[in-house]
Amino acid sequence: MNKAIDPALMHAAEATGTIPGVKMDAYWMPFTANRQFKKAPRLLARASGMHYWDDHGRQILDGVAGLWCVNAGHARPRIVQAIQQQAAELDFAPPFQMAHAKAFELAERVVQVAPTGMTKVFFTNSGSEAVETALKMALAYHRVRGEGTRTRLIGRERGYHGVNFGGISVGGMVGNRKAFATGLPGVDHIRHTHEPARNAFSVGQPLHGAEIADDLERLVALHDASNIAAVIVEPVAGSTGVLVPPVGYLQRLREICTRHGILLIFDEVITGFGRTGQPFAAQTFGVMPDMITCAKGITNGCAPMGAVLVKQDIHDAFMTGPEHLIEFFHGYTYSAHPLACAAGLGTLDTYAEEGLLTRAGEMEGYFAEAVHSLKGEPNVIDIRNIGLVGGIELAPLPGEPTKRAFNIFLDLYEKGLLVRTTGDTVALSPPLIIERAQVDQIVDMLRGAIRRAA
Ligand SMILES: Cc1ncc(COP(=O)(O)O)c(C=O)c1O
Repeated sequence: MNKAIDPALMHAAEATGTIPGVKMDAYWMPFTANRQFKKAPRLLARASGMHYWDDHGRQILDGVAGLWCVNAGHARPRIVQAIQQQAAELDFAPPFQMAHAKAFELAERVVQVAPTGMTKVFFTNSGSEAVETALKMALAYHRVRGEGTRTRLIGRERGYHGVNFGGISVGGMVGNRKAFATGLPGVDHIRHTHEPARNAFSVGQPLHGAEIADDLERLVALHDASNIAAVIVEPVAGSTGVLVPPVGYLQRLREICTRHGILLIFDEVITGFGRTGQPFAAQTFGVMPDMITCAKGITNGCAPMGAVLVKQDIHDAFMTGPEHLIEFFHGYTYSAHPLACAAGLGTLDTYAEEGLLTRAGEMEGYFAEAVHSLKGEPNVIDIRNIGLVGGIELAPLPGEPTKRAFNIFLDLYEKGLLVRTTGDTVALSPPLIIERAQVDQIVDMLRGAIRRAA
């Protein structure tokens, strides 16, 4: 049977390929199959709680918290009001040599939920910018301490750290790298942790693979620790298809970094703010990095914002020299933007009032059992989970990688469920307010789509 995208799955708007009264030509969409989309647009018109509604008023269950970010669900009143009030009160405040109170307030509130010892917060506007900021901070930190030879940055195969040059250089997803020349010089990568032969269908953390962390010793032997500034990894690799760290792996990586004076950066853009059962994955796994990059859930996705959380001593190393001089030559016009700070405060209030930063832990058992019930369905070759994250990996269509999962995505959207696919993995990361019945609904709908795609 031909597994090309089934025309029957195309949305009704395909007939015209237009939005009434709006031309679709000018907008070049990010990370999108533009031509396919414009033939069959998928337009979201409003959202509330666990649901979106499309431009035809059709209800769509949100199985991915928008894009791993709407952790408290959609249109939460505290956040909506905070943004509305802020827009009327103070629309913009320059962040260089100036500030506004909510920037300090939000930084304090983030530190309160961050792992103990993460006491400083540097605001950016996205996860990608948080990554660039953390990498630059690592380089500058070593330099300011007189260890200026530490310039190498180490990422991990299959890692995703956003789309800017630093991020794609330390990142390890070939599609995000291959078209963009050489990236940063002096970057290397440790092995990824995916070992389906030993770990397929692990519930929670895989048991095998702590020793994969020792691959960092190989790079230390090659480059010498005195030349390595930092290692950046996602505690749970999301964008590559949900790879959960083997038991003991992150601990071992931490030990090796400490032994060699290498900074360890956890990229928690996806895992931050409750996704794995604690506010940060560092807490879930009991491993303390030197810096954490985050974004998405910091504002519940309601305003663009990212942040780098930093240990006190890293910050303090910069605080030398004459006091009138800038200590770190870095920042963005929209760092700590008032609307984003207001959204962040409304978000943290909502998380606190509803216990959402630990709810994924409470739901994890139920969620795990539900997603693992898909084992045995046609072409399901692995299922991975942690907290409220699930990855269901499918065998690719022969000669057409990614298409089976993409067809499932289109099918489910038609049926009223939003999921995310990467490669041939279907990723689930629902809002943390999800109820058991909605977990069942997601898994039942997914089961149907997997069968139809067989
Ligand atoms: C681990 C990780 N880092 C960085 C990013 C980039 O974030 P943004 O798209 O906000 O730039 C993402 C986005 O999904 C991510 O998952």
